[in-house]
Amino acid sequence: MEKEKIILGIETSCDETSAAVLRGDALLSNIISSQIEIHRRFGGVVPEIASRNHLTAVLPVIDEAVSAAGIRLSDIDAIAVTYGAGLVGALLVGLSAAKALSYSLGVPLYAVNHIEAHIAANYISSPNLKPPFLAVVASGGHTGVVKVSGYNKFALLGTTSDDAIGEAFDKVARAIGLPYPGGPEIDRRAKQGNPDIEFVSRKNKNSYVLSYSGLKTAVVSYLHNLSQRGIEPQINDVCASFQKTAVDMLVDTAALAVKKTGIKTVVLAGGVAANSYLRERISGFKQMGCEVHFPPMSLCTDNAAMICARARDMIREGLPSAALDLNAVSYLKIETENSL
Ligand code: KG4
Ligand code: ZN
Repeated sequence: MEKEKIILGIETSCDETSAAVLRGDALLSNIISSQIEIHRRFGGVVPEIASRNHLTAVLPVIDEAVSAAGIRLSDIDAIAVTYGAGLVGALLVGLSAAKALSYSLGVPLYAVNHIEAHIAANYISSPNLKPPFLAVVASGGHTGVVKVSGYNKFALLGTTSDDAIGEAFDKVARAIGLPYPGGPEIDRRAKQGNPDIEFVSRKNKNSYVLSYSGLKTAVVSYLHNLSQRGIEPQINDVCASFQKTAVDMLVDTAALAVKKTGIKTVVLAGGVAANSYLRERISGFKQMGCEVHFPPMSLCTDNAAMICARARDMIREGLPSAALDLNAVSYLKIETENSL
């Protein structure tokens, strides 16, 4: 029997420094050092500060992942690293560490697309999941529905034409005066509010195209209008109404994808997949005869376990490893179905 490959994954695309070790199907460690507290006072991620903090965290986090996994560096068979999408300076820190390890250990380096990795997180939490399936991607930088027709075959069906859903959560939270990151806080407050404020008219149910910038502007204008009239906004109602509109738009797009493709397995991916209302709505797809999968919270937001999971499928299907001149690609995307 072939020896199970040990993969060390590294993730530094935004404000989490993470390293993980995967052996075959077993996740041996997944260490996440979050910078959220550092960026909170600025109301969002400051790219230069993120890079500097990745620099100090990356080696201790890798050390911890290796020792928590109970392995030695010499046991590692491959290094996997996020090369995009993300903040370029932040990505370069992970890339440099990954290249140095790959070179010094004499093992291949795998270049991982961060969005594909968010989707692959589902293989860790749902070991029986197999393509084809639809992935509802909802993160701070990306939003859309991806058709996964093979372990290494991803096609974007629909996406946002402007802001990502998580970005909209964070910007609306900031306008209301809630701390960064706004998503969890809006989620919490929405549970105590009424979702009956109409911010924008709903999207065209027959189109894959999403847009979040208009919704964000509508919330900001609503707050401005109340403040000019000296009226205090009902923050919990604003949260519930914004969240309902933002999530319903994405859920409509996912429902359209189920209808058009006939694919009846749906997974959630990305930081906003932690949202309780999004989980509830996607769970409702079971009534359409769908099978539904969600990663646990720890695998929804950025982590290196998902980087390992993605690289495992690249290795299994013989995809090429990367050369040591691999660069960061800030705007790395998944190709749309039509352009494939
Ligand atoms: O995937 P992620 O960790 O980073 C990116 O790749 O962008 O996603 C971070 C995003 C942030 O915008 C954060 O506000 C959002 O995920 N988020 C949530 C929740 N938890 C995290 N949004 C809504 N509800 C949540 N419970
Ligand atoms: Zn992410």
